[in-house]
Amino acid sequence: MTTTTTAAPATDNDDELPRPEGTGGAGDPFDQDVLPTPPGATASLLRSLLAPMRARVAFTTVLLLLQQAAVQAGPLLVAYALDTAVPAFRDHDHGPLIAVAVGYLLCALLSGGLQFAFIEASTRVSQDVLLDLRGRIFRHAQALSVDFHERYTSGRLISRSTTDVESLRELLNEGLQELVTVVLSFVYISAMLLWLDLGLGAVAVASFVPLYVLVRVYRRRAGRVYRARSTAIAAVIVKFVETMNGIRPVRAFRREAANDAEFAVLNRRHERTNGDALLEMARYVVGSRLVANTAVAAIVLWGAYRVASGSLALGVLAAAVLYLRRLYDPIDRLGMFLNSYQSAAASLEKIAGLLAQTPTVPEPSAPRELPSPKSEFPGREVVFDGVRFAYRTGGVVLPRFDLTLPAGQTVAVVGSTGAGKSTLAKLLARFYDPSDGRVLLDGVDLRELAVPELRRGVVMVTQEAFLFSGTVADNIAIGRPDATREEIERAAKAIGAHEFISALPDGYDTDVRKRGGRISAGQRQLVSFARALLADPAVLILDEATSSLDVPGERAVQRAMSTVLRGRTAVVIAHRLSTVEIADRVLVMEHGRIVEDGRPDELIAGTGRFADLHRAWRDSLA
Ligand SMILES: Nc1ncnc2c1ncn2[C@@H]1O[C@H](COP(=O)(O)OP(=O)(O)OP(=O)(O)O)[C@@H](O)[C@H]1O
Ligand SMILES: [Mg+2]
Repeated sequence: MTTTTTAAPATDNDDELPRPEGTGGAGDPFDQDVLPTPPGATASLLRSLLAPMRARVAFTTVLLLLQQAAVQAGPLLVAYALDTAVPAFRDHDHGPLIAVAVGYLLCALLSGGLQFAFIEASTRVSQDVLLDLRGRIFRHAQALSVDFHERYTSGRLISRSTTDVESLRELLNEGLQELVTVVLSFVYISAMLLWLDLGLGAVAVASFVPLYVLVRVYRRRAGRVYRARSTAIAAVIVKFVETMNGIRPVRAFRREAANDAEFAVLNRRHERTNGDALLEMARYVVGSRLVANTAVAAIVLWGAYRVASGSLALGVLAAAVLYLRRLYDPIDRLGMFLNSYQSAAASLEKIAGLLAQTPTVPEPSAPRELPSPKSEFPGREVVFDGVRFAYRTGGVVLPRFDLTLPAGQTVAVVGSTGAGKSTLAKLLARFYDPSDGRVLLDGVDLRELAVPELRRGVVMVTQEAFLFSGTVADNIAIGRPDATREEIERAAKAIGAHEFISALPDGYDTDVRKRGGRISAGQRQLVSFARALLADPAVLILDEATSSLDVPGERAVQRAMSTVLRGRTAVVIAHRLSTVEIADRVLVMEHGRIVEDGRPDELIAGTGRFADLHRAWRDSLA
């Protein structure tokens, strides 16, 4: 469609980011990045993703619990060795020391094995979750209405299903392990310390208070930084995709330098947010080290004093210091976890925002079928009943109107650029629903019509003839997937596409994306005509569908049209008035209104807009 490139004004603001220099206005991708995510949507998305995995998540948690128990037994064995086994050894009792050595080895083996089992199990869980999530994003985005895609660019969708899903992967693969390990370490270690010696344990536990404050502050600050970072990377991707999609106009208008400059701003901003994130992390690590080292120093000082005075066993002090040192690692890992948590939370919020979008053109809740055809012809009656239409992002494009297209009629719609012709067509194809009123197909409101019925009922061919990857035959068969090769060729022949297709390297089996399979704009239009013809719809809409064809090509299509359109209801939009010759009726649109309506010969004979247009066109031919 030609109209989908209309820039939509900014909708959502990401207030947390300063605007970059040199960008701004409606085209600034930053304005539209974050869809307002309804409260609770993120949590309920996470719940729905994890709910089917509950048992497996519980199993992996148990593995981790056991693994931690094995790991944390180490210092306890050291304390036992120093205070019991070594004295026993002195008394020629080798048993305890051997037991300690064997115990240590067993713990090491056990913790290794359990860790392996845990990694395997948790990776499976995260794979399944992400598989599910990416599938949901694709299905949902595909189901959303055209107006959503006009606002939410493909770059943004790409960043949702790549970087955002990846950051969730990080959280699930590593982050959760970090979190469980950290919590368990804290619990075990505090319990052990308190059990070994209440006083030393109390000092250690007291040091958790400043740590807690540190974590809180880090969480808040990192959350801001990570949201900004994820918005910034999305903007980089959006700019990238947009530029490469529009590479032809970029070249044609020598936009490269300007694009480079704009991209550099976005790229730098992304790097800056990366730097900010690292800086926050560094602050956190330094702060937490400081607290932990202070606690170790206090315990060593006080413990040494008590060992000297005989009120504390050396082994207990050694174990206490070992345990406390073991806290360093989890504290750093808590930082890592918060990192991946923040970045995953920001991503999940955006994904939840996307998934919370509902189609503005929803599928009917109680779908209706079309009544059985009144005649042998496929055509059906179209009624616009009190229809008024405004795009979500603009003013009224079509003021209230009524229009009836009898079954089987071929109607040409002409009018100046921006008059609303394509909008009328898109309402009939149900790309949009009218703001007021109804569009009826044989008396059934399009909003109530079952989706397969609508798909068979109305087919629109636009100027932008899109080909999917696959062969030429595949592309034609999209109109009717169960069509045979004969039917495909018959459709191509009817429209005059057979000759050029046969001349391609592999004929109908030529891959349209491969070298040699590249076909011209006019040829693409012929393929999409054949596709529409094969679909055999009741209502066929042609919006500038022959605009890329040369005059003989257009003539050929027109000759074919008189057979193709026979008995079908057809809406033909064209600037070239030659197309109008096959029409039974002409509508002239201006500023969203139908200003003339009649048989072509009547209008030409009259004194209205169409007569003027036609005269000008005749003169231009002379
Ligand atoms: N997706 C959109 N969002 C907002 N406004 C739109 C959108 N598409 C079209 N419009 C506006 O609606 C009006 C009618 O557009 P429409 O595409 O129907 O015109 P048209 O008659 O088909 O023009 P043309 O001959 O150039 O194809 C224009 O003013 C246009 O700016
Ligand atoms: Mg148009």
